[in-house]
Amino acid sequence: TDYTLRVDTTRTGPSIDDSMYGVFFEDINRAADGGLYAELVQNRSFEYDPADNAGYTGLTSWAPHSGTVDVADDDARLNERNRRYLKLGLPAGVINSGYNSGIAVTKGQHYDFSVWARADRTARLTATVTDPAGTPLGDPVRVDVRGDGWTRYTGTIRAKRSTTTGRLLVTGDGTGTLRLDMVSLLPRDTFKGHGLRRDLAEKIAALKPGFVRFPGGCLVNTGSHHGYDAPDYERRRSYQWKDTIGPVEQRATNWNFWGYNQSYGLGYFEYFQFAEDIGAMPLPVVPALVTGCGQNRATDDPALLRRHIQDTLDLVEFANGPADSTWGRKRAEMGHPEPFKLTHLAVGNEENLPDEFFARFTEFRAAINAKYPDIVVVSNSGPDDAGGTFDRLWQLNRQAGVQMVDEHYYNSPSWFLENNDRYDSYDRNGPKVFLGEYASQDNTFFNALSEAAFMTGLERNADVVKLASYAPLLANEDYVQWRPDMIWFNNHASWGSASYEVQKLFMTNVGDHVVPSTATATPSTRTPITGAIGLSTWATAASYDDVTVTGASGETLFSDDFSGGDSRWTKSGRGTWNVVNGAYVQSDAAAEDTLVTAGDRSWQNYTLNVKATKQSGR
Ligand code: AHR
Repeated sequence: TDYTLRVDTTRTGPSIDDSMYGVFFEDINRAADGGLYAELVQNRSFEYDPADNAGYTGLTSWAPHSGTVDVADDDARLNERNRRYLKLGLPAGVINSGYNSGIAVTKGQHYDFSVWARADRTARLTATVTDPAGTPLGDPVRVDVRGDGWTRYTGTIRAKRSTTTGRLLVTGDGTGTLRLDMVSLLPRDTFKGHGLRRDLAEKIAALKPGFVRFPGGCLVNTGSHHGYDAPDYERRRSYQWKDTIGPVEQRATNWNFWGYNQSYGLGYFEYFQFAEDIGAMPLPVVPALVTGCGQNRATDDPALLRRHIQDTLDLVEFANGPADSTWGRKRAEMGHPEPFKLTHLAVGNEENLPDEFFARFTEFRAAINAKYPDIVVVSNSGPDDAGGTFDRLWQLNRQAGVQMVDEHYYNSPSWFLENNDRYDSYDRNGPKVFLGEYASQDNTFFNALSEAAFMTGLERNADVVKLASYAPLLANEDYVQWRPDMIWFNNHASWGSASYEVQKLFMTNVGDHVVPSTATATPSTRTPITGAIGLSTWATAASYDDVTVTGASGETLFSDDFSGGDSRWTKSGRGTWNVVNGAYVQSDAAAEDTLVTAGDRSWQNYTLNVKATKQSGR
């Protein structure tokens, strides 16, 4: 086929905003603790709770080393938000094993140790990084804990050897009871000195994101698995930005939607600061009290709704208010008197109850715009189903003149190839699109290629699609709730997926405006199976993507787009089907047998051999 591309240099297409491509950070796949947040100690405040997760105890990631070791929850606690603490009957000690294979330290680097402690008699506290056998990897920190009031003690450990399987050993010598909380070990070398893990932050910064959407996702609009009612608000079991700011020892912890405990060490201040550090626009998402993400419940509590709306107004003040305003002062106290320049704010995420969501969204929007008319309040479209929620929400958003609507979809590579023209027909006068989450469903090169092809369609429609972010951004390889992901990591290394490279290509080469062009044909990646299918007649497909075989009346006998990581060729309709990898094999074995899986996530050249039992195909 001849393909002709005509570029019209006499006309100028839509301009493309510098902020068009951004990132969506959600605390999923342990993206925060054990990830972007550089803290090396897991469960530093002993808040892991078996009531949340049957696998948890107050000592998760900790092991007793010696003496009497308990986790206590009583009036001696550090504060109301940080209720549990470690109680050592001296002499005693504990060992923390961090995340993944352990605590990773690098020879020559400094690590800042800190702990809140109190002792009913003077106690000598020692903290050391060791290997799994207990051999020290640096000089220990030693402090004398004096007095039975909570006090913060600090020290620095310089690693003399590198390891990825380190442990933090904390011991107390003396007699009586030593109480510990917020046991922390942070690398001194963090991204811009702001407490974020350097390699991960640098990989994100290298994308030059135009915006950072945070902190979720389902993490936000569903609160936690405990539900989303007033008691959850009081008990801080739903995600609330106010719980995530201020001194870390006073922040709440939460068992999050993704099934693990999050410390909020990476909180709203840090999100805003990170966005600023990488030159990106901050774009927070607040809950609308209608849960999607499989829960599908609208909280009917006007007082709670008012509180959430007030919290959102306070959030704008925290970000933008003067340093002497109530919430601006808190930002200034955390070291940032200058405003964070918040311009966009999203309410809700993937609600499945369109009318219930929109009623609440309308109240949020009215209150925000009454006080802050310049803030763009982003609505959403629910899951991208064919009809139902999605269409209804777009209808409501359009009718109400909403400025911007958040869309999400996770589809097969072929869907991305076939839907390059998705936004060509969107109403130029309707709400703008914020494509807050999208990915093709695997991490192969072909997935990335299909995303790249799709992104040319986003860019061509830059007058409608104003913001777009691949999702999810980060995944710790040992704690995966969702795949594919853009950047993968463990406790000491990180690597970008092919999709990361595609994002980087687009994000670091954002054009000024679209140059109108036409093509005579749209290239297709489908490899049609040609030739008659008959007895002993074979058809082949050159790759495993998008194989469809039709019968005599046009009915689909067999099809597979291998969109999932573990797609299998399965039998459908008449005939005996067999697939082999590169070799000719004829078999009459039951066609449902496992034939080929695409689970190895690498390119393979498969041959599809189709043997029909009746001469009727085409
Ligand atoms: O990106 C992962 C999840 O996908 C998000 O939390 C949610 O919004 C979507 O369903």
